Amino acid sequence: MTASILLAHPYPKSFNHAIFHTVQKTCEKNGVHVYAHDLYEEQFNPVLTRQELGSDRSNDPLVNQYAKELVESDILVFIHPNWWGQPPAILKGYIDRVIRPPHAYDFPDNDSGGGLPIEKLKGKLGVVYNTSNTDEERENTYFCDPLDKIWGKCVFGFLGINRYHRKMFRIIADSSENERKAWLQEVEAEMTDITRK
Ligand SMILES: Cc1cc2nc3c(=O)[nH]c(=O)nc-3n(C[C@H](O)[C@H](O)[C@H](O)COP(=O)(O)O)c2cc1C
Repeated sequence: MTASILLAHPYPKSFNHAIFHTVQKTCEKNGVHVYAHDLYEEQFNPVLTRQELGSDRSNDPLVNQYAKELVESDILVFIHPNWWGQPPAILKGYIDRVIRPPHAYDFPDNDSGGGLPIEKLKGKLGVVYNTSNTDEERENTYFCDPLDKIWGKCVFGFLGINRYHRKMFRIIADSSENERKAWLQEVEAEMTDITRK
């Protein structure tokens, strides 16, 4: 079993980093082959280039490496804070540049892109860990949990990935050390369960 684990948070002491390390450690402990990337640390450039838009190839070695790993992985784990109801720009750029035709999805020869995609990543499992500072009721009723739609429908749904698990940890700003410890134990238990299936 292989997992790609992608982290989008700039601060090494963040709770997002703690989740990232827990996911990575748990996967490795359970014999999963891991590709783990801290997008800020690796200085990933999130901007889809003009060259890439007009082509099936990228000249950026990081894009090509992430794309190869994406296709090889059985489990795709994304870890990021809720920023304006969206992933941070660096991860949005990963989606734009790495989750691309022809390896992630494509369109039939007679379709210029207006129809339904050919799903190339079917059968994989998508996992998302988020953090935020909004309580659950306000997130669900006022904001309508945009991250659930982005990941569940716009990204994984579009790619034919229908096994999808997401968890939001909240409220980080008011959380105690004990609470954060317990949350990391939850991550460890979930990832153990996922990787033993
Ligand atoms: C640019 C930016 C936008 C944010 N937007 C939201 C938001 O829309 N909803 C929310 O609940 N928190 C928002 N936050 C707060 C972050 O989600 C919060 O700081 C983070 O989840 C805490 O995790 P950490 O300890 O790993 O940094 C935002 C923070 C930043 C810096």
